[in-house]
Amino acid sequence: MEQMDLLLTGIGCLATPAGDVLRSGKEMQEIQEIKDAAIAIQGGRIALFGAEADVRNKLKGAAITETLDAGGRLVTPGLIDPHTHLVHGGSREHELALKRSGVPYLTILAQGGGILSTVQATRASSEQALYEKAYRSLDTMLMQGVTTVEAKSGYGLSLEEELKQLRAAKRLNETHPVDVVSTFMGAHAVPSEYKGRTDAYVDLVCAMLPEVAQEGLAEFCDVFCEQGVFTVAQSRRILLEGRRLGLMPKIHADEIEPLGGAELAGEVGAISAEHLLAASDEGLRQLAKGGVIPVLLPGTSFNLGMNKHARAREMIDTYNLPVALSTDYNPGSCPTESMQLIIMLASLNLKMTPEEILTACTINAANAIGRGRQIGSIEIGKRADLSLFDAPNLAYLPYHFGINHTFGVIKNGQPLVWDRQMIYAQAGKGESVS
Ligand code: NIG
Ligand code: FE
Repeated sequence: MEQMDLLLTGIGCLATPAGDVLRSGKEMQEIQEIKDAAIAIQGGRIALFGAEADVRNKLKGAAITETLDAGGRLVTPGLIDPHTHLVHGGSREHELALKRSGVPYLTILAQGGGILSTVQATRASSEQALYEKAYRSLDTMLMQGVTTVEAKSGYGLSLEEELKQLRAAKRLNETHPVDVVSTFMGAHAVPSEYKGRTDAYVDLVCAMLPEVAQEGLAEFCDVFCEQGVFTVAQSRRILLEGRRLGLMPKIHADEIEPLGGAELAGEVGAISAEHLLAASDEGLRQLAKGGVIPVLLPGTSFNLGMNKHARAREMIDTYNLPVALSTDYNPGSCPTESMQLIIMLASLNLKMTPEEILTACTINAANAIGRGRQIGSIEIGKRADLSLFDAPNLAYLPYHFGINHTFGVIKNGQPLVWDRQMIYAQAGKGESVS
């Protein structure tokens, strides 16, 4: 131990899942908590962590470039948001009155609104405008303690327009300090020019896949498998073709109707299946059998005013599944970038414990986007992605709600947020939009 770039001292409570593997069922409860802790960082990675006295002892004689005092706060791995529709044009507050008067989400879509309204706004936006809007959302996420975000295309619905979204996401990953992991979701809706010709549109999506894969613009391929959108057979075709080209399957499954999306996720070896409010018992069994990660999005059911929630307790207690949590940030069903709102809703509506919630927002979320080895826990050798919260313990996060607890964020060993202020203009990956 000769030299350390950063020593974070004064951690009141360090809370992290251990290891780099998924935590399933009861394991989700197993959190390592260390009081009065410290973390030493070198080359952007965690070099040492533990009780502060032990860490200081081991560092005797080492040169330490910078020391920061966490002031007795809670420190966790940086939060990971593994399911978002980050890059899009416009917003949909004009549909709020319709939604509040009880018009169902799928009816608004069938009438040419909903996702299709955002398709129009996205097509009308330049790649630069999409980039700038999403950049601001990433800033909001960062201020909430989020250090890695998955981003789906799916508001272009033609090759050029999908590529435009994916290229914006690629540039965001290169220039914003938050990491952005891309998913191709050409099968998010059937565009109006293909109305009534869904199979022809599925042909087009399959024809887009080679270009997306060749340009290296996405790691995953996702489909909205839902009544009136894409059937199980159509979803299967797209996901298998994506898989053949090296894109790992993901699937929006059984969100509103129990179509059998969860069963399909198991069948095609999807890395994750999302939503799952209406998933059947057999569907949950197939997820467990296929090693599929259920990504639950409690903000969506909350915002759509559904009196129904994903069966998180059964998933964890009965099916031994590794649940992950995410915002589903999008302009329709869940217009929020706030992982801390999701933490509260996971407690309130999914009845998950604070420990399970942390696991779901860190190591399980990391695995849902293929990053379990690099991020998602405080572990020697892992990236030093850390969130500091103005909270004495883990349970305080879902308990004290509706505010932002984030005091600081460290990404790759660089403090990006400190004392509730964004300081990354000096420390980030590169250019800033403003
Ligand atoms: O995950 N359900 C489909 N897709 C998104 C919503 C997209 C939108 O409404 O713009 C979701 O909820
Ligand atoms: Fe979604």
